[in-house]
Amino acid sequence: MCGIIGFIGNDALNGILNGLELLEYRGYDSAGFAIRRAGESQPEIHKCQGRVKDLREISPKTGDYTCGIGHTRWATHGGVSDTNAHPHRVGKVTLVHNGIVENYKELSEEYEVEDQLVSETDTEVVAALLNKFYKGDPNEAIRRTVKKLKGTYALVVMFDDIPDTIYATRNVSPIVVAKNEELTILASDPAALYEYSKEFFVLDEKCILKATKAQVSVVDFNGQEVQPKMQVVDWDAGNTGKQGYAYYMEKEINEQPEALKRILTNYLVDGSIDLGYEGAVDKMLTSFNRVCIVACGTALHAGMMGTHLFRKWLGIPVETEMASEFIYSDTVLDKDTLFIAVSQSGETIDTMEALKKAKKEGAACLAVLNVRGSSISRIADYTLYTDAGPEIAVASTKAYTTQLMIFYLLVLRCASLRGRMTEADLEHALENLRRVPDAITQVIAIKDDIHRQAKEVIMASDLFMIGRGMDYLVLLEGALKLKEISYIHSEAYAAGELKHGPIALITDGTPVIAAATQTKLISKELSNVKEIKARGANVVLLTKEELKADFAQSDEYHVIGLPNLDDEYMSFPEIVALQLYSYYVSADKGLDVDKPRNLAKVVTVE
Ligand code: F6R
Repeated sequence: MCGIIGFIGNDALNGILNGLELLEYRGYDSAGFAIRRAGESQPEIHKCQGRVKDLREISPKTGDYTCGIGHTRWATHGGVSDTNAHPHRVGKVTLVHNGIVENYKELSEEYEVEDQLVSETDTEVVAALLNKFYKGDPNEAIRRTVKKLKGTYALVVMFDDIPDTIYATRNVSPIVVAKNEELTILASDPAALYEYSKEFFVLDEKCILKATKAQVSVVDFNGQEVQPKMQVVDWDAGNTGKQGYAYYMEKEINEQPEALKRILTNYLVDGSIDLGYEGAVDKMLTSFNRVCIVACGTALHAGMMGTHLFRKWLGIPVETEMASEFIYSDTVLDKDTLFIAVSQSGETIDTMEALKKAKKEGAACLAVLNVRGSSISRIADYTLYTDAGPEIAVASTKAYTTQLMIFYLLVLRCASLRGRMTEADLEHALENLRRVPDAITQVIAIKDDIHRQAKEVIMASDLFMIGRGMDYLVLLEGALKLKEISYIHSEAYAAGELKHGPIALITDGTPVIAAATQTKLISKELSNVKEIKARGANVVLLTKEELKADFAQSDEYHVIGLPNLDDEYMSFPEIVALQLYSYYVSADKGLDVDKPRNLAKVVTVE
């Protein structure tokens, strides 16, 4: 969480503010920057609670600034206030920080720096320590300081007596660096770099970066020079901005057909699934006897669908665990376990720590990621990329459907390699997958109907979603979507569980979304819908066009007909309908759809 930036070059003011805007999705309760002119020592600091647009208002409008650092905050230690906003400055040291320093209180007592502190943040203690250890050698001060820190950190630092220069170091929390002839820029993620360079490198942990406009150098903690490994930004830099949509979420929902077509093009070679790495992933897929999938939030929901598919088509033991629970659990892993970490950003700390644990225990480790070059990709044995392009809205949409698509391809490949599926069955499955992008386009085409249903619930305080089997798994994601952007309390229940407790919550007028796309479960689902109708619920029903007749015999509920695919593939159109529904509820409530309260796009603290 938190976006950090360092910029050395002409027009540093705009460079920093524009960069902060691009990084704002990482945290948006406060923002700030420290900036200086060529040769200047002490920086000007501007910071405030609120968004980058609020920061712009209190900032100089122009100025010949050439070197600065900036921060957009998601509060951890210390409330949301102007004082707690970064940068923090003690003595000759000004810094911004992403991460959490767990032992900041002990350090501040041990080194007696309390009287130098004005904020409640862990970060300011780091600034005080750096200042204490700084005797003219920045590397020595950084080394001594970070040796004392427990926790995660990306630190970007300016020393008063070293003008035109920025230092950085990190543990877990990322820092990426790019340069061109005009400038050097460092940031929490490549989103802030595209404009300046197609090449960047990730600063290694336990290293110190020294950056000037003309040069960047990296040394390890023993002072040995480290040669950075350059990577190429592979996303279309033009694919930024809302491109006419009201919100990024709307744009990203609409991008799903293309994103899914891209995956199929990337992974289907001459009609067969090719997971790349010259057969190395195939080898991995033939040798495990158990699967463990770990992720958070939306990625976890995609993982749960992966579990369903592995069980269905491979008949082997599979479990999905929340990464945050997995890290501290006693789950048994061994070399016969295939461990799959799923993450859009590739930076989620819980997922990353879970992956490290799995690797240590000898599991074969695969990652399903969107962002190339992200931290998790550097730990996993192999990564299958979703290549969905930048996802800016905090609420995940295209990340989920592309993760699902990867799971389908992975499990189908595995089933075919292990002889669990005939060629004809495989071809039939692929045919359904090829139809998915069009099915999503068809759902988008009925958005007005979905919008009308969304309007009905904007005043609701609670909403329930019920379904069975795969429908239930999709509804878990649908309910997360709705709650995070509309602030309506929404929960998904397995329809068969209703009578074991949750039905007590249904009263006259309670809104319920029921999903019934699985033919073999339709009659059971229909009974559950009748049970809640009898208790006064207002039901919107999602089903396949071809099954509509089973439900539409009365005007008891509104039926949304989804395009017909085989049951196993209905999750795709179904989730898109729920994404649109959540989007319209949030937008009609006048909320900030892309930046819901209390959230951040990348969760880099446990
Ligand atoms: C919800 C959402 C989050 C993320 C979760 C994991 O819309 O976006 O629940 O899915 O924070 O993030 P990644 O996938 O980046 O690991």
